[in-house]
Amino acid sequence: MLTLDSTTVWVNEIIDQIIAKMDWLSEKSRNKIPYTTIDGEHDDRSVCNPTHTEADGINWWTNGFWGGMLWQMYHATGNPKYKDVAEISEQKLDACFHNYYGLHHDVGFMWLPTSVANFKLTQNPVSRKRAMHAANLLAGRYNLAGEFIRAWNDLEGEDTRGWAIIDCMLNIPLLYWASEETGDPRFRQIAVKHADMTMNAFVRADGSVNHIVELDPFVGGVVKSYGGQGYEEGSSWTRGQSWALYGFMMSYNHTQKEEYLNTAKRVAHYFIANIPENGVTPVDFRQPKEPALEDSTAAAIAACGLIEIAKVVGLHEKDMYLRAAIKLLQALHVDWTTGCDCILKNGSASYHATTHHQSIIYGDYFFIEAMFKLKGSDLYFW
Ligand code: GLY
Repeated sequence: MLTLDSTTVWVNEIIDQIIAKMDWLSEKSRNKIPYTTIDGEHDDRSVCNPTHTEADGINWWTNGFWGGMLWQMYHATGNPKYKDVAEISEQKLDACFHNYYGLHHDVGFMWLPTSVANFKLTQNPVSRKRAMHAANLLAGRYNLAGEFIRAWNDLEGEDTRGWAIIDCMLNIPLLYWASEETGDPRFRQIAVKHADMTMNAFVRADGSVNHIVELDPFVGGVVKSYGGQGYEEGSSWTRGQSWALYGFMMSYNHTQKEEYLNTAKRVAHYFIANIPENGVTPVDFRQPKEPALEDSTAAAIAACGLIEIAKVVGLHEKDMYLRAAIKLLQALHVDWTTGCDCILKNGSASYHATTHHQSIIYGDYFFIEAMFKLKGSDLYFW
């Protein structure tokens, strides 16, 4: 157990609920790749749907998380049915390599919790090949002049050649993995350059972070920042804070560079200082009081990062990070019934989205990862 003595019973109860729900849900959604729920039912990003664009059907950036949930369950229970269902979604993602155009830097989010997870747990050589393919796509997005990985492809009416986003800190572990796996340092060199740029261009003096930074794609250097999925430019989108917090820990775990740990801690201290009294995480720490928009996914991701920090700091610091993680996790609204194919309620994709407070698959994924971490699991796809 990596938790506070007073919360051991709670951790065990939640793990039992996760196992019961996933036992049922893995069979019900066996052939889907879900993103959210509609009237309690998982949607499916793997089927042709005229409302999906090139980027949000099978190429949708969240399509690795369902597989990741199943690999977490396989590791925790040893039940082969989770491996079987995980492999269904991993195989479906092969279509993305053929489509190519809808893919961008989020290949890390897509193939770390699927193919890298599969390879780490089963040494499946086909999974290794898929993950190497994705790593090469990610490395190919590196801009030498600006020393950054380009985020998205061009958006409607926007030239995004110079855009980097904080979320990429969770994509670059695919590059660390590729170097560790092949012995070829190129991938890691790119990851380190991107992490260094992010540390300098995204993290503000108070420990908060920008979501989007535009760099000059021809000569480098910061051009401007954007509010992105947060409230406004200069605000503090909570999921972006979480990507930074956990992402810098990932870079620290792969490189042991002290400045990454210190950056993760700075962001963590800012995050902890801004957690409201009731523990409920807003969509943006600088949003207006009303409407009181929440984002459960930001809380689950931050909790994972806080637990990772707790693992590497001394005893006198450890409890502070664990306490904050547990406060965030205990404030979440969870659904253990068969009335909804989700676990977490109240996820919000962005502040200005038309829909808020919905279930989102990465919220469920990081909640499961956080709870297994507290239980003592050392499984690490990142
Ligand atoms: N990576 C996009 C998001 O966090 O919504």
